[in-house]
Order: sequence, then structure tokens, then C-alpha cells
Amino acid sequence: MTASLHSELVLPCGAILPNRIAKAAMTEGMADVKDNPTQALANLYHTWSEGGAGLLITGNVMIDRRYLERPGNVVLEDDQAMPALRRWAAAGTAAGNHLWMQISHPGRQCARIVSSQPVSPSDVQLKMLGNFAQPRAMTQAEIEAAIAGYARTATLAKEGGFTGVQIHAAHGYLISQFLSPTTNRRSDDWGGSLEHRARFLLRVVAAVREAVGSEFPIGVKLNSADFQRGGFSLEDSAQVASWLSEAGIDLLEISGGTYEQLRLLGHGDDDSQDRDVRQSTRQREAYFLDYAQRIRQSCSVPLMVTGGFRSRLTMTEALANEELEVIGLARPLCGDPVIARYLIGGQVDYAPAYEQDLKLGTGLLGPASPIPLFKVINVQGEVAWFYHQMLQLAQLKSPERGLTVLPAFLKHMAREYFIGFRRRWHLRGS
Ligand SMILES: Cc1cc2nc3c(=O)[nH]c(=O)nc-3n(C[C@H](O)[C@H](O)[C@H](O)COP(=O)(O)O)c2cc1C
Repeated sequence: MTASLHSELVLPCGAILPNRIAKAAMTEGMADVKDNPTQALANLYHTWSEGGAGLLITGNVMIDRRYLERPGNVVLEDDQAMPALRRWAAAGTAAGNHLWMQISHPGRQCARIVSSQPVSPSDVQLKMLGNFAQPRAMTQAEIEAAIAGYARTATLAKEGGFTGVQIHAAHGYLISQFLSPTTNRRSDDWGGSLEHRARFLLRVVAAVREAVGSEFPIGVKLNSADFQRGGFSLEDSAQVASWLSEAGIDLLEISGGTYEQLRLLGHGDDDSQDRDVRQSTRQREAYFLDYAQRIRQSCSVPLMVTGGFRSRLTMTEALANEELEVIGLARPLCGDPVIARYLIGGQVDYAPAYEQDLKLGTGLLGPASPIPLFKVINVQGEVAWFYHQMLQLAQLKSPERGLTVLPAFLKHMAREYFIGFRRRWHLRGS
């Protein structure tokens, strides 16, 4: 029978997703000063639960308090915040949907405001306006501790009432750093050949499966490519997907890019060699769909593809043609939290593409400006606009769709530094 947006999906572990739209992960930055979940997060996920998506995936929750992707990340290392975690999970599953926790470690993509001593597979620094310090190569013991950390966080998520976990192996975070030859220059068992570079991910998957049991859904978010010369390629991705399939995961989400090539949001120059696929995929609204087709040939896991889906027609065709099993949507749900329900019910034909209007200006002021500051304001301001809408929803207010890029950028920077310094102050005193 042909799948449509309202079809159920039975996952390999036996769990059932009630429909084919998933809210993809978006970092919320709403933890309290002790990195614990807050009522704001419960409010936000309650709103999204009522919004109709069959699966909600949280923004990345960190496995290790020392290394955050940004201040305001939730950290889950122990059970001290179990009541708050349970409130978040209960709110986020109120409508009977699935709620999976995305679990992550930033590796070198750890903002300097959080730590000036990040770790990574190798000591390759991310050079972006001085925001990220020089990382130190992880020791064997640190690698084993991180694997155990993912399993511990997954166990706690299950205890707290989350109905699944997603391991973040995309976008240049720690697992993605292990996978990519540009950031993994190790010559031991964890680097070199693809088999060695994928060892960390596969060990994490095995440890998480061992911890949560065979009936609990495990997803993985993987880059189709990181779009950098000499980086993780589409062929690498297809091979890793095949190994993940053998490892027994339940849902593979395809995305792409890193901080240096923001292809996840449809930006970036693409330095990679995957030109054939690139040409055809560029014409499509769902910019990773063609990459996903190559990956699909080598793995039997249900696929979720995220990035650029906006029209109901593209979504329903992709499902009907069996190009994927789950449609991932992120940005549209910030400005319109019930859009999934309307798409599924057929009341609307398009999810809003807010990102199209989010520019400081054109020419010198535009996203392709030769002036680095303007480029940064365009990109960061766009993302900040979505952060702002999530904060509005978390305060049970309506989205402020009229907000423009510059105020969004300034508000975000002020808040980010405020919560970053407040957290540092707190850590110093404790
Ligand atoms: C504000 C914001 C925060 C994001 N945070 C995360 C994250 O924590 N983890 C992740 O895997 N992807 C994250 N993403 C990427 C989205 O999950 C998604 O891949 C991307 O937005 C493309 O999908 P879309 O076109 O439907 O928005 C984030 C995107 C945005 C806009």
C-alpha cells in the first residue's frame, strides 16, 4: 500500500510512529543554570506535541557537562534532574506522538564561552572568528568514556519517559569529526580507513542498544556528505549507512554539512567531488533527497530526510515513490507550530519558508557580502530568528513573524553571552 503523510510507520524495533512527519532537532538553549530542563522546554514541546507531527526530536542534549555546543544546552549525566526530565517528556508526548532525545557531544564545535579546552579526534581547530579554541586529541580512555556517556544519557532519557533517542552523527559534531578525514588524523584504531573512522559511531550505537534494550527506538542523524574537499563523502556515507543497518538502528536521518559548510540549512559553497548528484539535487526543494537515494541503495533502515521540504506535493511524492519513510521538518515549525497537522490533514499545501525573507539586505548587505561581518549577521541572524520564535512559543506567546534579521541577531547575541557568563559564574561558585 502506498504511504501518505498520515500513514503509520512500524519501526524495526516494533515501535509505531503515528504519521510520517517528524520535527527535526533544533537546539533550544533553554536549560537552567545547572543545565537542567525547564518549564519553558515543557511548554515548547507541549505546543509541538499538539501540532500533529508523529515524531518530535529534541535539540541536542549533551552527554558531558564540560563540553556544550552552546550555553543553554540540556546536559544529562545523572538522575539529579529526573523530575524536570519527566515533566518535559510528559508534555512532549501529550498528544500520543513519539518524543526522541537527540544525544550529542560537540567535540571541537564547543563554543569558547563554554570551554577553552575542547576535545576532538585530532587537534584540528575550527577557525571561525576565534569562537572555538584549539582542541586536544582524545586519549583512548576519553574515547571509551564518551562511548559510555552516550549510553548513560540514553538510559536516563528512557527512564525519564522519552520514547526513543537519536544519536547525532552529523553536522561536524564529535561523531562526525571521527567520520571525516579532515578532522580525524589519527593513525590508531579510531582513524585512517573508513572502517576505523566509523568505529566510534558503531561502538556508540552498540553501547546505546545494549543500554536501552531491543524494543526502544534508536535513530542516527548522518551527513550525506560534509561538502568539503577530502572530507566525508557520499560514498563514505552510503557505506556507513550499510553498517548502521547491520547494527540494528530504527531510523536513519539524512542531512549534510558542518559549521564550515552550512548545507544543513541550504547554504554553503560545496567543495566536494559529488557533482553529479549535486546538480540535480540543487533544483529540488528537498536538497538532500537525491543523496538519500544513493544511501538507500545500500541500507534497509527506514529513512528520514530533512532539509528544505516545504510543499505537500514534494512530501507526498517522496513517500509515494518510496524515496523515504519520514519527512523531517524543522524551521517551519518555529513560526507555525501546528503546520504538521494541517499538512497531514490536507488543509494547506505549503509549509512556510520563512528563511527566504530573512536577510539583512541585498548586495553588500546580503548573505554573499564580501564583508565578513555582514555575512555573519545574515547567517546568524537567520538562525537567531528561529531561536526567537522558539522562545516565544516556550513563553506560550505567538510567534513574532515580523521580527527582522538585525534585531534577531542582536537579541540572540546578548542572550547567548548573558547565559554563557551566568553559567560560568555559577560553575565557579559550585
Ligand atoms: C535554529 C536551528 C537549530 C538547529 N539545531 C539542530 C540540532 O540541535 N541538531 C540537529 O541535528 N540539527 C539542528 N538543526 C538542523 C535542523 O534539524 C534541520 O536539519 C535543518 O533546519 C533543515 O531542515 P528544514 O529545512 O526543515 O529547516 C537546527 C536548525 C535550526 C534552524
